[in-house]
Amino acid sequence: MPEDRITVVVGRADEIAPGATKKFLFVQRGQEIEAFVLNHGGELHAYLNRCRHVPMTMDWVENQFYTEDGEYIQCATHGACYKPDTGECVEGPPFGKFLIRVPLRLENGEIIADLPADA
Ligand code: FES
Repeated sequence: MPEDRITVVVGRADEIAPGATKKFLFVQRGQEIEAFVLNHGGELHAYLNRCRHVPMTMDWVENQFYTEDGEYIQCATHGACYKPDTGECVEGPPFGKFLIRVPLRLENGEIIADLPADA
């Protein structure tokens, strides 16, 4: 693994219930890069908080990413819907594109996130 890898401790895995999301930040060369983790059906996934239509954050309401029915991640700007488990856009302007996945691992019950290479 590269020595300059940027890693963040997101929090405890058991604090993120199914259907919940939590935002966190990477800092790269003095710039903040937002990301979020979600628990979808008991599985944790994380993505950069950056729509694939226009590269802007997706939560107008802080930390609100899910559609009302909890089926999709939705960008508040133009309504693009992404699958929570894959990050694939299935509706909206960036149809077919994928959110940038943040690799996660668990260490002693804590979620550790690595800044993706293509951030
Ligand atoms: S910026 Fe997200 S759908 Fe347009």
